[in-house]
Amino acid sequence: SNHVFIMAGGVGSRFWPKSRNDYPKQFIDILGTGKSLLQLTYDRFLKLCPEENIHVVTNKQYKSLVQEQLPGVAESNILCEPSRNNTAPCIAYAAFKLAAKDPHANMVVAPSDHFILYEDIFIEKVKLGLDLAATDPVLLTLGITPTRPDTGYGYINFEKSGENGVHKVKQFTEKPPLEKAKEFLASGSYVWNGGIFIWNVKAALQAFHEHAPEIYSLFSKGDGLYNTAEEQHFIDAEYPASPSISIDYAIMEKADNVYTIPADFGWSDLGTWGSLYEVADKQNGDNVFSGNHQLENTENSIIHLPPGKLAVIKGLKDYIVVDDNNVLLIYPKQDEQEIKQITERLKSQN
Ligand code: GDD
Ligand code: MG
Repeated sequence: SNHVFIMAGGVGSRFWPKSRNDYPKQFIDILGTGKSLLQLTYDRFLKLCPEENIHVVTNKQYKSLVQEQLPGVAESNILCEPSRNNTAPCIAYAAFKLAAKDPHANMVVAPSDHFILYEDIFIEKVKLGLDLAATDPVLLTLGITPTRPDTGYGYINFEKSGENGVHKVKQFTEKPPLEKAKEFLASGSYVWNGGIFIWNVKAALQAFHEHAPEIYSLFSKGDGLYNTAEEQHFIDAEYPASPSISIDYAIMEKADNVYTIPADFGWSDLGTWGSLYEVADKQNGDNVFSGNHQLENTENSIIHLPPGKLAVIKGLKDYIVVDDNNVLLIYPKQDEQEIKQITERLKSQN
């Protein structure tokens, strides 16, 4: 059977101050569609499998938010982490729990905060991946054609020849420095890692066993406890001791059975204000607003205001302006990756 695990435990710190520790961006209606990014993600996967096969992995802290926003997800399908240890342990937990239920299952692991324009193409590619994962011990990721030397993504160099649109990965490089990213982009032989992983649960466990043995042995201690009344107790006790590392560094950079399905389905990782700018409707002067404004000579900027607030701005170019509760952010778009560090410095105000 096919199962989906939506990862919804991140804090979305580069989307600060709109995204906060107690209410991260996956729970926010960032696109103005009337639905949060998590709800949009869930609806998309309903086109792939029945609701009982859709799971959400999140921090304990957000359990009630998930329940509120996704009433169709049973409590037993919400995996609650007691601490933030990044995506490798999050995915290991999902894999061990699923294997205990169905050792032959396929799993799709997906972020909760992406924008996808062409959902039918997306679903078609995921199905293609699932068909392969059912028979071959491969680690599949969807590859996106890169458009700029963004240092926030994984870059995948893959073999030109492939079968059925599936290509073997030669090298996976997570978040390269700018110089490397420029080189990769110019070479034309790289795709971005879309962050959507498709594999059989056996292949996943094998990959952890080989490349992340510490994580593997930690979750192995829970064998016999998954899907029982003891599971949460075990997780609460053991999970925080797991190494904190993303799946990209822990497995994808190391494994030699990684494959990619290059696919373009109008994808955007709504990771930063700039990525929202890329997908949002632009108005006069190529600005993206929400709220009330009078702008003159203002270009290529994002202006995000609370309802009822008026902004009068003249002569601003390439900036992010966000007014949200107790915070006003005015920051050059080109330095947006720094916003993450700012939030780390300001932890107390989050
Ligand atoms: N449950 C849980 N627990 N979810 C988490 C955690 C965690 O500790 N940490 C992050 N997540 C969720 C986030 O909410 C997001 O939906 C997803 O996992 C990915 O985490 P990000 O922090 O957004 O990763 P990234 O954007 O820096 O990089 C990843 O995605 C890129 C594409 O968007 C990598 O896979 C890159 O290689 C990839 O290009
Ligand atoms: Mg992301």
